[in-house]
Amino acid sequence: MKVLIAGGRGRVGSRVAELLESRGVEVVPGGLADGVDYIEGTRVQEVLSGVDTIVNVLNTGRFDEEGAVSFFEGTTRMLTAEGERAGVRHHVLLSIVGVGEGDASEIGYYLGKVAQERAVKAGSLPYTIVRSTQFHGYIPVLADQHTVDGKVLAPRDLIQPVELDELVALLAEVTLNGGPLGEIEIAGPERFRMDDLLRATLAASGDPREVVSVDGDSAVDAMVPHGEYRVGSVLYPIRGIPVAG
Ligand SMILES: NC(=O)c1ccc[n+]([C@@H]2O[C@H](COP(=O)([O-])OP(=O)(O)OC[C@H]3O[C@@H](n4cnc5c(N)ncnc54)[C@H](OP(=O)(O)O)[C@@H]3O)[C@@H](O)[C@H]2O)c1
Repeated sequence: MKVLIAGGRGRVGSRVAELLESRGVEVVPGGLADGVDYIEGTRVQEVLSGVDTIVNVLNTGRFDEEGAVSFFEGTTRMLTAEGERAGVRHHVLLSIVGVGEGDASEIGYYLGKVAQERAVKAGSLPYTIVRSTQFHGYIPVLADQHTVDGKVLAPRDLIQPVELDELVALLAEVTLNGGPLGEIEIAGPERFRMDDLLRATLAASGDPREVVSVDGDSAVDAMVPHGEYRVGSVLYPIRGIPVAG
C-alpha cells in the first residue's frame, strides 16, 4: 500500500507516517518542506503517482475566515482533483468535532474546516472523515489563544480532550482498512469545563496567568461529540479537575 500524507512532516502527520511505516506501508510525506504545495499545485502530480490513499492532515496558521476557508478549500480541491486523475481510491481527512455547530460556527478557522469537509464530500474520491476533539498537548495553546491583556478569558464550554497517540492510531487503522468508512469521531474519556481545564493546566506548569470564567455558567456543548464515537482511554495527565456531564 502506498500512502501520501499531505502534511506528513507536521505534528499529526509525522506520527501517522511513523506508525504506517512500522506496519510496512510505503509513505510519501508531501508538505511544503518536500517542495509540494497544494495551493500552487507544485509537485502534486509527482507525489500522487501510484498512491492508493491520501491522508490529509494539512494545516494553516490563518485563523481568519477568508484565510482559513481559502486554504482548506483550495488544498482539498487540488488533492481530490489530482487524486482522482492519479487513481487514488481513498481520501482520509482529519477534521475537528463540532466544527460548524453552535457557537463554533462563528470561528473563522472552524469555517475553514467546514469548507474542507464540504470539498471532500463534493469530490469524487471515496472518503473517511475522522473528527477529533482537541489534543492533550494543545490545551496550553488554547490558553494562549484565550489570553487578553495577560488574563485567560475562558468560557464554561464543555471540552473532551484526547491523547494524540490515540487519534494517530485511529488514522492509521482507517488508512489500513483501505476503503471509505464515512464519518468517525474520537474524544478522550473525560469531559471538563474549559475554564477548569485551563486553570488546572496553567497551575500545573507554574504559569501565573489568572483564568477568568466568562459567559456566566452556561456550558456550550458544541465541541463534544453527540452521536457514537471512539472513546480514548488515556486520562488527561493533570488530575483533580472537576469532571462535567
Ligand atoms: N490541534 C488540535 O487539537 C486538533 C484537533 C483536531 C484536529 N486537528 C487538525 O489536525 C490537522 C493537523 O494539524 P497539525 O497540528 O499536525 O498541523 P501542523 O503541525 O501545522 O502541520 C501542517 C502540515 O501542513 C503542511 N502544509 C501547510 N501548507 C501547505 C501547502 N500549501 N502545501 C503543502 N503542505 C502544506 C506543512 O508542511 P511543512 O511541514 O513542510 O511546513 C505541515 O506538514 C489540522 O487540519 C487540524 O485542524 C487539530
